Amino acid sequence: MKALEVINVSKSYNGSKVLDNVTLSIDEGEIFGLLGPNGAGKTTLIEIVLGFRRRDSGTIKIFGREISSREFNKKIIGYVPQEHLLYDNLSGLDNLRYFAGLYGVKTSEFKKRLNKIINFLGIDENILKKDVSKLSGGQRRRVALATSLIHDPKIMIMDEPTTGLDPNVRREFWKLIMSLNEEGKTIILTTHYMEEADELCSRIAIIDNGKILSIGTPEELKKKYGGEESLILRIKTRYLDNAMELLSNYQPEKVSEDEIKLSGLNEEYIPKIRNLLENKGIWVDKFEVRKPSLDDVFINLTGRRLISE
Ligand SMILES: Nc1ncnc2c1ncn2[C@@H]1O[C@H](COP(=O)(O)OP(=O)(O)O)[C@@H](O)[C@H]1O
Ligand SMILES: [Mg+2]
Repeated sequence: MKALEVINVSKSYNGSKVLDNVTLSIDEGEIFGLLGPNGAGKTTLIEIVLGFRRRDSGTIKIFGREISSREFNKKIIGYVPQEHLLYDNLSGLDNLRYFAGLYGVKTSEFKKRLNKIINFLGIDENILKKDVSKLSGGQRRRVALATSLIHDPKIMIMDEPTTGLDPNVRREFWKLIMSLNEEGKTIILTTHYMEEADELCSRIAIIDNGKILSIGTPEELKKKYGGEESLILRIKTRYLDNAMELLSNYQPEKVSEDEIKLSGLNEEYIPKIRNLLENKGIWVDKFEVRKPSLDDVFINLTGRRLISE
């Protein structure tokens, strides 16, 4: 079953295209990532899916049902916006009550759901009593996640769920997102973190300037666009030219003052290369095998590096 289908969706602001014929389809049960730099059109696309913004053209289907361009789809979708929508001067609990009311969750149902969610997210009940403005970034993000789960949506859309969190908290959120997925939620997230997309997502769409450049599993994308593995040798600058000559059979590439890259080679070649150089009195300070990453994929597709932060 397809959870979401976006077909030929376009959108312009003041004559400039921010979404250009975007087509993608997401299966139920996926963690699907929209990966792209700031300004790529990620938020615009998901807010069009949610019905918060109007599309100029194209079709959207949720669980096979066509959605008109004026329809709000928050009942079936839980939305975690990048800037959380919590009321800072209310407690977490009051925020949860408010959002539950908004989605028509019955009072009898609310308590059951709340208990389940705070257990699941590991939220301390005392934290829920505090004003949201008094919470740390990670706690606030958890409460925001709880509010978007209170109506038990089938699809969760998260806009940059870990932007601005420190690396440890970010990893905790990855775990939470994965367990939500295991509980049966289809997850759609946007990110500009390569690592996040790589670790978390079953499939990724790479988006830049409003266009989808490629869609696939992280492995597929790396295989297709990541280039080959390579071996990086760190060698003292004064020996570098000499080493380049000795390695000429391997098409060496000088990548910095003290680094040589041998494309297409992996760790199996290390002993051989080490011998070849040491026999001539050149010591390799460090060997490193570089595997293709989503960074390489992005560079190959766009000619630029995707800068996080
Ligand atoms: N309400 C708006 N009015 C005019 N331009 C907008 C509006 N919202 C977004 N844009 C522009 O659309 C482009 C895509 O923005 P956005 O969807 O927020 O990208 P992302 O979420 O990938 O960073 C940007 O160039 C942004 O400036
Ligand atoms: Mg955005």
